[in-house]
Amino acid sequence: MHKRTLPYLHHLSSAPLMMEEIQSLLTEKGALLIKGMNFQSAESFNKWLIGFAGIENLADYTGGTSPRSKKSSHVYNSTAAPRFIKIGLHNEMTYSKNPPHTVIFYCLHAPLKKGQTPLADSLAIYKSMQSADSHFVEEVKRKKMTYHRRLFPKNKMRLAFFLKAIHWENIFKTSHKNIVEKKCAQNGQEFRWEKDHLILKTIVPGIRIHPLLQKPSWFNTAHLFLSDKMVWGAPLSLIIKFFKFISKKSGTYITFGDGSPISNSQKRLAYHIVEKHTQFFNWEDGDLLIIDNLQVAHGRMPFKGEREILVGLLK
Ligand SMILES: [Fe+2]
Repeated sequence: MHKRTLPYLHHLSSAPLMMEEIQSLLTEKGALLIKGMNFQSAESFNKWLIGFAGIENLADYTGGTSPRSKKSSHVYNSTAAPRFIKIGLHNEMTYSKNPPHTVIFYCLHAPLKKGQTPLADSLAIYKSMQSADSHFVEEVKRKKMTYHRRLFPKNKMRLAFFLKAIHWENIFKTSHKNIVEKKCAQNGQEFRWEKDHLILKTIVPGIRIHPLLQKPSWFNTAHLFLSDKMVWGAPLSLIIKFFKFISKKSGTYITFGDGSPISNSQKRLAYHIVEKHTQFFNWEDGDLLIIDNLQVAHGRMPFKGEREILVGLLK
């Protein structure tokens, strides 16, 4: 099977790219790495983003799963998750009814070691899943998927570190419940309050059709909820225990859209196929990575040294 190399590499010094060229290259290649950009700050990256996409096409990162802070009006740090944690491959905001169609990363400061943003071709993953277990793929198509989450209030964050330091005020960037509710509705998320805990439930397709290519994309994170695959290299039994404890506390899990469970063997298959399709590149200062979110999944490897990767999202 022909495998696309991700990301497609372009040196800015060899030829400047017009916006239309970027768009068509992105649709063809899935992910584009432009080297030699020279934004000195989040502010200048933000200015470029506005010029590139138009302010009306830039999306907010709210209701997300990653602890993240705003660096400029439309620019965020990529994630504030601790440096030793591996963030598994995912398409941005799979749990949202309206995920961004493009994700743009800018490397202000490359890490000393590792810290890559792994990439995987979601169109190719779909094909592999189809060959490996067409029944599972049919089930995903038919039933969709439900993402279940429990977000803690800010003052109940004793387990903050283990729960990835997420509380709903951080996720929704507000302490007002009515604003949270409005944002949930915009994201198509069902919500309810349990005292001050926010319980979220979103039913979304696990396979989406790319609007320009009209090809199916494996667009879900079932593989990240596999209880026997974690990232710290601890003994398996301990990891399983720990993961079960965290899942229970955090109330974060995935099922099919009708609430029926996705089996561990189905999750494991997805995990191995996503792994098989994962590709790496090393960040350098001034790198701009543009990802077609409907075609390509991304993650983050653990790293050493300072790492400052900024991100902007396009609707
Ligand atoms: Fe992400």
